Amino acid sequence: MHLSRETKRLEGKTPKEDDLTRISSTWIPAGLSGSGKSTVACTLEHALAARGKVTVLLDGDNVRHGLNSNLGFKAEDREENIRRIGEVSKLFAESGVITLTSFISPYRADRAKVRERMAKGDFLEVYMRIPIEICEERDPKGLYKAARAGKIKNFTGIDDPYEEPENPEITLNAKDEEGNMASAEDMAAEIIKYLDSNTYLRGP
Ligand code: ADX
Repeated sequence: MHLSRETKRLEGKTPKEDDLTRISSTWIPAGLSGSGKSTVACTLEHALAARGKVTVLLDGDNVRHGLNSNLGFKAEDREENIRRIGEVSKLFAESGVITLTSFISPYRADRAKVRERMAKGDFLEVYMRIPIEICEERDPKGLYKAARAGKIKNFTGIDDPYEEPENPEITLNAKDEEGNMASAEDMAAEIIKYLDSNTYLRGP
């Protein structure tokens, strides 16, 4: 059995450097609505499962309809949304479960607060750097159209801010170097490459 650092701490043991195989981590894809965050997170989850990793995926579908169903999209509600998601991720991380979270998380300060709450290295920010024109063209839920028509207020990227991550661990671009659109598989592979080269996926 591989104990998480938190378990060792509770047992009064100091984790050895080799235990820092980062079995417990969280990845926060931050990006606009329609940027493909959840698709990439889902693809990544499958890739990690194939490597025997236990993961949990938190996204708007399972969190905003339950735990956070009392929150809307005002700045303070978004802040509380991300705070709760951060705390849930922390609990999972401390139990050795990798948490993939997929939320717009538009405010730098809110993301920074989650980072501060996590053990060093346990928080990875993945920025889905997809231009709003592409997100708006995809518009899978018709929300951009509704926002442009004024039917939805405070829509991120239209009449509400989106603060780009300044130093994300990973940035995923819409197109590769040859100008081809990157697929969700390409993006998940890029995350896996980062995790592998930074020893996140070592160990059981
Ligand atoms: S966050 O800003 O608080 O992180 P979150 O990721 O939970 O947002 O929810 C975003 C999803 O809610 C969008 O993908 C979209 O489907 C939906 N949504 C509804 N209203 C809004 C809005 N005003 N701004 C952004 N997304 C909205």
